Amino acid sequence: MHLFRMRLILALIASVTIVSVASTYFDVLAHRHALRQELENRTKWMGLSIEPDVQGPLAAGDSSALAGVTQLLRAGTGALGIMVYDVRGRVLGSAGPSEVTSALGHGVTKTLEKGTEESAFGHTGEWRWLEEVFPLHNGRQLIGGMTIVVDAGYIHEQDVDLWRRSFWRVLALVILIVAITAGMVGWFLTRPMKRVTERLRHLRTGHAEKTGEPDLSLFSPLAREVETMAESLKAARAAAEAEARLREAGERWWTAERLAVHMRDRAGSSRIFVVSNREPYVHARKGREIVCTVPPSGLVTALEPVLRACDGVWVASGSGDADKLVVDGCDRQRVPPDEPRYSLRRVWLTDEEESKYYDGFANEGLWPLCHIAHTRPIFRAGDWECYQQVNQRFADAVLEEMAESEEPVVFVQDYHFALLPRLLKRARPDARVAIFWHIPWPNPEAFGICPWQAELLDGLLGADLLGFHIPLHCHNFLATVDRVLESRTDRDHMTVSRRGHFTTVRPYPISVAYEGIPNVGADGDDPAAEERRAQERRSLLSESGVRAEQMALGVDRMDYTKGILERLTALEQLLEEHPYYRERLALVQIAAPSRTRIPSYADLRARVEEAVERINWRYQTAHWKPVVLIERQCNHEEVRRWYQAADLCLVTSLHDGMNLVAKEFVAARDDEDGVLVLSKFTGAAMELRDALIVNPYDARAAAEAIRAGLEMSRADRRQRMQRMRRQVMEHNIYLWAASVLGDLRELRLDDAEGMDLSRAESISVS
Ligand code: G6P
Repeated sequence: MHLFRMRLILALIASVTIVSVASTYFDVLAHRHALRQELENRTKWMGLSIEPDVQGPLAAGDSSALAGVTQLLRAGTGALGIMVYDVRGRVLGSAGPSEVTSALGHGVTKTLEKGTEESAFGHTGEWRWLEEVFPLHNGRQLIGGMTIVVDAGYIHEQDVDLWRRSFWRVLALVILIVAITAGMVGWFLTRPMKRVTERLRHLRTGHAEKTGEPDLSLFSPLAREVETMAESLKAARAAAEAEARLREAGERWWTAERLAVHMRDRAGSSRIFVVSNREPYVHARKGREIVCTVPPSGLVTALEPVLRACDGVWVASGSGDADKLVVDGCDRQRVPPDEPRYSLRRVWLTDEEESKYYDGFANEGLWPLCHIAHTRPIFRAGDWECYQQVNQRFADAVLEEMAESEEPVVFVQDYHFALLPRLLKRARPDARVAIFWHIPWPNPEAFGICPWQAELLDGLLGADLLGFHIPLHCHNFLATVDRVLESRTDRDHMTVSRRGHFTTVRPYPISVAYEGIPNVGADGDDPAAEERRAQERRSLLSESGVRAEQMALGVDRMDYTKGILERLTALEQLLEEHPYYRERLALVQIAAPSRTRIPSYADLRARVEEAVERINWRYQTAHWKPVVLIERQCNHEEVRRWYQAADLCLVTSLHDGMNLVAKEFVAARDDEDGVLVLSKFTGAAMELRDALIVNPYDARAAAEAIRAGLEMSRADRRQRMQRMRRQVMEHNIYLWAASVLGDLRELRLDDAEGMDLSRAESISVS
């Protein structure tokens, strides 16, 4: 930059000087020309006016008179010299300094020869002059000539003066221009350049967030481009690092990139189709704009890398109020909207369908049927009719999408689509169909409540692969099939054979997108980190006007299976039995509104609010209350802040297929601190053995677990958290997707005996 500035300044000096000198030169020429012209005119007038005084004595050939006349005329006119010649060029009279008169040119000869006026500038020694020669006549006859010499020295002096003034002007100009240029270079180039450099350095070192967005003025477009490039480089570097770590870890850990490559390598010509009730992108109107959001769902995180890698199709119900505006004539949209890589096909449900299929059969029927939470399932014939119709509509949409695909792979999600596998397989026997049941499967007696259990089982058994979170749900399913249908179940190989079709049943514990590496072995006692966490806790709690030294956290949908009321009872028990925690501990309960049209959900909400009010009323003081209830959908980032600030996370579901909150909490705790209190009735309890496992129905035991968690030593907390983090990282969502889809690809559809996955290159994590 310094060299650039020097060069720029030198170039400017050179060009300003050249331009100024050239312009001065022409000024001097013009000025000199004007002065000479004026002097010539003046001399001519002078010559004309003194001619008569010379003509007489010349005509008479009186040289002594001429000598006197020339002296007089010289004195009278102020001329430098006057000389008079006869027609042969002899000097008859002369006045003036001899250095000048002797140095005069040959103008007189020309005048006497041609009879014309001649003029010439000359100089010698210190003299500079103009000689003007006039022809002299007597009547028409040329009788001689007269030379008038005038001083022209002042013209030269003015030339010199002009050059001198020009020199100072040029100098001032150069100084001014150099100063302005240097200032401008500094302001418009050096400073922004420094900021760009600084910004890029931060991007390179990964500290860009801390510095914020600087004003990069004219470099902004360039900087934006470079930033995008730097971001890609960062992502590439992170991916490369992840790859290196994977290699280092002997391929044990899964990442989005590894999943994408894994699936692409094995997909062959097959295309993949995902079906779920919730869509991965929702478009909503916000004023005049259409805003696209990604619902906070682990499923999108898991399946998107696969769909992107294989240009798949996701079929889902369109729920955003602007979804219809962004699809094409076939209800398709390429997504992600910013970087289209796969297709989203939307199915539109009417209000009646929403109410009967989703609210009714799925959520008032199957949901409480499968969760032992003591909320009675409600089965209405009208809802069942609608459930069948909606399943058929989704099947039609999927079949339409895969019409051109050979041996398509279909991955159906959850209890909304129990009939879909059969509908698809009947129309496309060449398709490989898997369905994952994200909720528990109860024992045969409990499931037997459903009037249409046989139809549901038959629908599910259309699938080639049926996944549950844990082995218990697989066993419950096989037992239910045994009890209800005519079929052959093989408990050893976990398969069901019915009318010549085999279904393999497998546990695949779902997880979160945690890709980090546990900080095992590092010195974990970082007082600064503790202080940061305390500060964050204070700041988060102060938004609700609460001061507390310790914070417990619950994050759930407002759902009766989540044990929110039981959690509140446990807290109340703790405060009653251990008054020490009054004014010390606050429970923050984030409860995202869910399925609000269903009476049992509205009822739960009222009961939770009532319980919170009651407990708060009982214990609260001026700056503290035991429960902060946040009833809204919080985004990933917000929830992550709460997870990281909490001392303890309470997951007290009465029954849960997995419960990803438990795993999200663990994955969020980079500081390897925090205690997880986890219900024994969750799928997660099978994996996270280092949580404090509780029975949520036992309020006293749950209260004790909270107390034990709050009083646990840092070393114990750290050890438990490290082990849980390793478990979650090694069994992340990418492994889940790779396992289900990998197993589905390995199945041999044509050979009944070949359904044994143990012979295939299985990566199942059961
Ligand atoms: C459970 C189900 C999911 C469902 C989610 C949210 O986890 O297994 O399929 O998407 O709850 O419920 P919602 O009814 O809002 O989709």
